[in-house]
Amino acid sequence: MKPITHIAIIMDGNGRWAEARGRPRAEGHRAGAETARRITRAARRLSLPALTLYALSTENLDRPREELAALSALMRHYLDHEVPSLIEHSIRLRVIGNRKLLSADLRRRIASAEKATAGGTAMTLALALAYGGRDEIVRAASALAEKGGPLTAARLETALDTKGLPDPDLLIRTGGELRLSNFLLWQSAYTELFFTRTLWPDFTGVKLRAAIAEYHRRERRFGRAGEEVARPSAKLKKPRGKFK
Ligand code: IPE
Ligand code: IPE
Ligand code: MG
Repeated sequence: MKPITHIAIIMDGNGRWAEARGRPRAEGHRAGAETARRITRAARRLSLPALTLYALSTENLDRPREELAALSALMRHYLDHEVPSLIEHSIRLRVIGNRKLLSADLRRRIASAEKATAGGTAMTLALALAYGGRDEIVRAASALAEKGGPLTAARLETALDTKGLPDPDLLIRTGGELRLSNFLLWQSAYTELFFTRTLWPDFTGVKLRAAIAEYHRRERRFGRAGEEVARPSAKLKKPRGKFK
């Protein structure tokens, strides 16, 4: 079986889950946060080395103020209460996204949770918060431009928020939409995509395992053909030859 080291999830559908119950959207976000905890534990039990959860996009920052307040309160609650469990399960928390777009209070709590869980070696949990793929690439490119020197893919990767994380093998989007919504644009160049209509609060460990099983049925070709496809270490690298 081909390895699976990193799963990234677009946790979509909280609002519709709540609206279908005649409840405020914030209630959907609360249920969604509970699902995020459950799926983190499920991934850990499956010995997955890395899990990235898309919690808030740069575009989501244009949502109504009350909804953002509810999301921020949930995030603060998560950061304050989840750390002991993350440490217990040897999970290292890492937040990706544009910290300048977060309040000083949230930044402090993030730094403290990252520090407290830094010893976790079993799994990395990356929370994408105020994250946008385009914003990440622009921040990385401008950091490199300031330093000077040649711009290579390898150097760009060291300046991305995801530095050190492998590219996702599998990207799951719940909620039925068939798009990336600005998530991991650089990193998902050859990621397998899995879309489900299940709304995020209804997503389960069983559904996660079904997505992984589907991943194992796929053939990852990385643009190759013939015997080259079967090479176990097929990875993205510099083009080998010119097209003449
Ligand atoms: C995803 O659920 C959570 C965030 C984007 C913060 P949504 O809030 O987008 O839920 P739907 O898509 O409106 O159902
Ligand atoms: C994507 O969901 C962002 C997160 C799940 C955090 P959205 O609900 O914001 O995506 P669109 O607006 O449907 O593309
Ligand atoms: Mg949505």
